[in-house]
Parts: sequence; structure tokens; C-alpha cells
Amino acid sequence: MNFENRDIISILELKKEEIEFILEKSAYIEDLVNKKEDISFLKGKILANLFYEPSTRTRLSFESAMKKLGGETIGFSKADTSSVAKGETLADTVRTVEKYADVIVLRHTKEGAAKLAAEYSNAPVINAGDGAGQHPTQTLLDLYTIKKEKGRIDNLVITIVGDLHYGRTVHSLTHALSKYSCKINLVSPKDLRLPQEVLNDIKDTNSEVYEYENLNECISETDVLYITRIQKERFVSDLEYNKVKGSYVINKTILESVKSDMIILHPLPRVDEISCEVDETKHAKYFDQTYNGLIVRMALLSLLLGAI
Ligand code: CP
Repeated sequence: MNFENRDIISILELKKEEIEFILEKSAYIEDLVNKKEDISFLKGKILANLFYEPSTRTRLSFESAMKKLGGETIGFSKADTSSVAKGETLADTVRTVEKYADVIVLRHTKEGAAKLAAEYSNAPVINAGDGAGQHPTQTLLDLYTIKKEKGRIDNLVITIVGDLHYGRTVHSLTHALSKYSCKINLVSPKDLRLPQEVLNDIKDTNSEVYEYENLNECISETDVLYITRIQKERFVSDLEYNKVKGSYVINKTILESVKSDMIILHPLPRVDEISCEVDETKHAKYFDQTYNGLIVRMALLSLLLGAI
């Protein structure tokens, strides 16, 4: 399987065998890291991080991944410190940056931005989140975490909670899960249900999928609870946001009704949807998940740049 020079724009473009291959390579990289082996596969290579939207995990883990692999990084974390502030188009920015870097990681406010960037770049483009669209590397690290914690992805009950409408991590994850044989529970307020087109895609794969408003209806059968933030920045007004704010909060009381080996994942950042008291419980895996993001991004960069 050859990933050299491929763009990673949407999880939909990856076959299940390709996802599994990336997860296997991630486990290989994690093993090398644990054994403190030489992993300077990307010496002499440069990664450009172009972030038009705020980020902590995605930007810094790509930067850390590249540096751990012996490579270097350039880029911006705020578009207004670049010539975007002077009115430069995304196409022109990408046509410039591809001359300076071997791989481009792009986060943008607009859905479709990464696809457009890939059309103008000879260097591979990785979508690090495009508006309410997709976030494929988040999904790869989510799947890696599930597999690492539960030993499999098939035959699990995976309950996804929160902002399913605007949450790009959820759009990517549900598309990916539909390639596996798991039961998917979708829990959200009515106004934040999964977009109909994404739901249709999942149903077309004959996946077992159920929608709820009340988390209590499916929490006790859940193996993996994937909770997301209600994304204030995607709402047209504070009034609309306040209607759904705080709809779901995971606390120790809720954990009394879950399976003893249920795990909680969250793409982070969180606001108020997981109480801090949950962090110290055996269920909380969201900070392990951030470490797995580093590993998966190391594997992905190595594959796209032809090093493994
Ligand atoms: N999960 C995620 O994308 O986090 P950041 O917004 O901090 O990159």
C-alpha cells in the first residue's frame, strides 16, 4: 500500500484496509518510540502548518511529530500574521508555501478549503479541519485509541454525544465507523442532529445506527462514549447557543450506570461537558487520546513522505 505524496482530505477517501494499514503503522511507530529507537526518518524534510483557525492539539502535535522524526516546521497559527491579512487567496498562499515545504497541514474556517488547497499544491495536503466539514487525522487517532483500549473496533457499541451537526470530528468518525461492524448511537439535542446527508451515507452502508435525545436511553450498553463540545463559534447568535449549552454533562453520578470497562473519549477542547471529577476515573481516556494523536500523525507523515 503506497501513501507517498497522497492528500488526506476526507476519511471517506480511505478504504477500510487503508485505515487499518495506517493504524498498524501507528502501532509500529509507537513501538519504536517506546524502545527509544532512531526515528529520524524525515531529516531534511519541512512541514508547513497553515492554521486559519485556533488549535492546540492538532497544530502542536503535527509540529512535535515532525520534529521527533528529525524534520523541521514552518507556518502560521493566525492567518492575520500572514499575507492573508493583505487579501491573499488560499490558492495563492498554497502555491507559494508548496515551494517551501514537503507537506502542508491546513486548518481553515471554510468547508472544502483543504480540497481546494490540494488542487493547487504539488506537496501533499493534510486536512486539519475545514469548518464544519471533516477532520480525518482526528478520526484516525480516535480509531487508534479505540483499538488500543478495546482491542477491536468491530462489535462495539459506540455512543457519540453532543454537537453532531457542526462537529467535524463527528462527521469524520461516523463515516469511518460505518466501514466497521459496530452499533452507533447518536445522542444530541434536536437542533444539533447529525446532518441528514451524513446520516444517509451511514445508513447506505447498512450500519446499525440509532438517534436519541436522552443519553440515559443508551449509556448502559455503551462500550465507547465519545462526547463533543457544543461549538459556540459555529452558532449564528448567543441566543441559539444558549438554548443547547450544557445539554449533556458527564459526571460521577452518570458513571454509576455505565459498564465497568466503558471508556470516555473527547477530541478536546472541552468546556463543561465532562466534569473534572471524571478525569481521575478509569473511564477517562481523553488525555491518552491526545498522545495517540502524536503517534498517528508521526506515522501519517512518514507514510506521505515515503519514509516507511
Ligand atoms: N481535537 C482538536 O482538533 O483539537 P484542537 O482544536 O486543539 O486542534
